[in-house]
Formats: sequence, C-alpha cells, structure tokens
Amino acid sequence: MKKLLILNASPKKRKSQSERFTAELLRHLDEGSYDIDKVYLYELNYSKYLFEQIATSDIVILATPLYIDCLPAKVLELFEDMEQFTKETFYETKPACYLIINCGFMEASQNNTAIEIVGRFCQRVGYRLRQAVSIGSGAMILETRQKSLVERAMCQLARTIEGREPLAEVISLNVKMPKFLFMSRSNNLWIQVGKKRGLTKGELKEGYYKAP
Ligand SMILES: Cc1cc2nc3c(=O)[nH]c(=O)nc-3n(C[C@H](O)[C@H](O)[C@H](O)COP(=O)(O)O)c2cc1C
Repeated sequence: MKKLLILNASPKKRKSQSERFTAELLRHLDEGSYDIDKVYLYELNYSKYLFEQIATSDIVILATPLYIDCLPAKVLELFEDMEQFTKETFYETKPACYLIINCGFMEASQNNTAIEIVGRFCQRVGYRLRQAVSIGSGAMILETRQKSLVERAMCQLARTIEGREPLAEVISLNVKMPKFLFMSRSNNLWIQVGKKRGLTKGELKEGYYKAP
C-alpha cells in the first residue's frame, strides 16, 4: 500500500478551504489503495519525525492558501528545515509531490510565483513537483455553481496520482464571473466575517483589527 501524506498549510486548519479541496480529492482517490495521513502544519512544532514522514512517503500533497503573493510562513519554515534534513540524511526513494494552492483574488495566476517557489524547493531536495492545482476565488468557488470545476480538477489530480492520466503540470481554475460581481460578493463576505467579530463596515475600511 502506498503512503500518502497530506500537509495542510492553512492556519485555519480543519475550517480552511484547503481542507475542503483535499476532501474533494480524497473522494476521487481509491482510498483502499493508500495509507493516508494528514497533518496540519500550524499544529506542529517541527521535528525529525515530520521530516522522516515526508521523506518516506510515496506521495506528498501540500494544500495551502496564498499569503501575500507567497506561501504561509510555516511552509517556508518547513522548506528550510527540510532542505537541511535532506542534506544530512539520504533516502533511496523520493516522494512524488503535488500541490493544491488557492488564493482569494479572482485570477488563479496570482498563485504562479508561489507555485514556482514550491517547484524550486522540490528541485533543491531532489523531489519533483508533478502537478499543481491552482485555484482562483478560493474562498468563494465552492459556493458558486462553478464548484464543478473543483470536482473535475480533483478528479483529474486523483487520476494523475493513480497514474491513469498524463501530467498536466498546472491545472488552473478561474471562476467565470463579471469582476464587479466578484468584488461585491467578496466585500459582502468580509462584511459578514467582520460582523461576527463585532466590527462595523467603517472599522473594516480603516483596517481595524480585533483578535478572535
Ligand atoms: C494574511 C493573508 C494574506 C493573503 N494574501 C493573499 C494574496 O496575496 N493574494 C490573494 O489572492 N489572496 C490572499 N489571501 C486570501 C487567501 O489566499 C484566501 O482567503 C484563501 O481562500 C484561504 O485559504 P484557506 O482557507 O485554505 O486558508 C490572503 C489571506 C490572508 C489571511
């Protein structure tokens, strides 16, 4: 049975979009063929145990949000630590790596630099980033009628992992919606989030922060 490790890199952990996207992927994988483990990077103090777990997996899937046009700090920390670990420890086999990245902006192309960073990291440690699913409107896409785009992309990713579909390198998902509608739906979403935290629209505009 192949060892499949999912690294969820969202600080929102189980309540993240990354979690929902990986759940969709698992729906399409023949789970009986894999020994699946999932870890939440933001729950961990990194140790040799995690590095060994990554190095000895057959398949590693990183599911992450885009943060400030890059990757969350915990991912960058992992890359640095993992690079050091692979310099000191040799493993005959290398995991096949996959990426699911989602951003808040409409265009999946916002994720391009971050995808390149993941690819470069893989190269440095002798791994290969086999395929990335790059999702625009990540916070919203599953709430639209175009959620079928996610279903199809995750089905394709599952088939690639299982060796039943040729590599596509990057599968980009862009919601088709007029920009003004996207802006208005996004604004409403944030206003609702602010409300739950006791913030008014005006306070949100001023960049007022209230800890949860
Ligand atoms: C601190 C922070 C920085 C972000 N930076 C970007 C960004 O640069 N570009 C973008 O399109 N979305 C950005 N986003 C939006 C997230 O990528 C988006 O909400 C995503 O759906 C979160 O995924 P998750 O639920 O898996 O964490 C940012 C969100 C936060 C909280």
